Amino acid sequence: MNVNAENVNYARKPKIFNQPERFIEGWYWVIPSIKLRVGEVKPVTILGRDLVIYRGEDRQAVIFDAYCPHMGAHLAEGKVEGNELRCFFHHWKYDTEGFCVEVPCLDEPINVKVKTWPTAEKYGLVWVWTGETPQQPLPFITELELEECDSAFGSQFITNCHPNVVMVNAIDAQHFNTVHNLLSEFNLEKQELNENAITFSNHTQEKPKFWLIKLIFPFYKKPVIYDLCYWYGTTGMVTVGTEFLHFHIMFALRLIEGGKTEGLIIFIAEKRRGIFGWLYNRFILWLSKFLAQYFIKNDSKIFQTIQFNLKSPIELDQPIVQFINHLEGQKALKWGSWNLERVRDGEVREIEKRENREKWRDELVND
Ligand code: FES
Ligand SMILES: [Fe+2]
Repeated sequence: MNVNAENVNYARKPKIFNQPERFIEGWYWVIPSIKLRVGEVKPVTILGRDLVIYRGEDRQAVIFDAYCPHMGAHLAEGKVEGNELRCFFHHWKYDTEGFCVEVPCLDEPINVKVKTWPTAEKYGLVWVWTGETPQQPLPFITELELEECDSAFGSQFITNCHPNVVMVNAIDAQHFNTVHNLLSEFNLEKQELNENAITFSNHTQEKPKFWLIKLIFPFYKKPVIYDLCYWYGTTGMVTVGTEFLHFHIMFALRLIEGGKTEGLIIFIAEKRRGIFGWLYNRFILWLSKFLAQYFIKNDSKIFQTIQFNLKSPIELDQPIVQFINHLEGQKALKWGSWNLERVRDGEVREIEKRENREKWRDELVND
């Protein structure tokens, strides 16, 4: 059955969903925490913007714009001193808030500032908020929102399509039967958690035809749990399991050049105490890898060649349409500049986020 616009309210020409030049303001993963030791500074390019990340003596990760406000040297050539970062070129030094605190050839530092970005760590990753002040907590799995978690890394990958297109795979009801031979019936119910997060829960009674599920739960009669939570349309949490055992898999994606995706898979479990708790969690995280492989098996060839265009949605595609509509209401930034994009009545306008930068003044020039 072909469903018309009244039944499936599909934004015909999305302005945010699957757009290679635009992304939603939010938290995005930067690098695994273990790859940034105390005293290290590294260059990173996130969503087209050049940044540096360093970790000072206080163990906090700090993210700056990459180029020194004096003359534009790349700050990743510099050196971490205590909690501060010194530029390699003329040795100006910046504190964790980006303020210049030392100019070696002057008695007093001058009034300049490197742009800094809100930074946090969770699930073994460093995250950056792409705006001035975080409007949301870090992405979380709803049932583990207040829990401490253990995590393990899966593979890192690049696909030829946009992160939003990779995300909808997990709510593409038809493909669970046609591609994965898993379930013939799917009934996903959506709920908007907040402006940036949406959840989908499966309510089918059918049991998946998956050997691992059959092996782990041979006598389990109830339908298997399948829940999703999406943040900013690019970080997706999948929860699969039964009443008494849940597996959590996070797909942390971000948009790279040419509308492609760079992604990381992370397995998450609620922290359990003691050596047995630790061992049990290793086992659970190891099993989660098998589940993840099963979910993404055969999808990769679709991601390499798809030209996403949902021209003829049917009723089973409704979760995808709901996901698209959820994204269309969020705050869009321009890939590369991270400037605000006003999307109104088909018109897109880039608005530079102005800072309270001091104007260049003659008295500040070193003479
Ligand atoms: S360019 Fe960094 S101190 Fe001169
Ligand atoms: Fe899939």
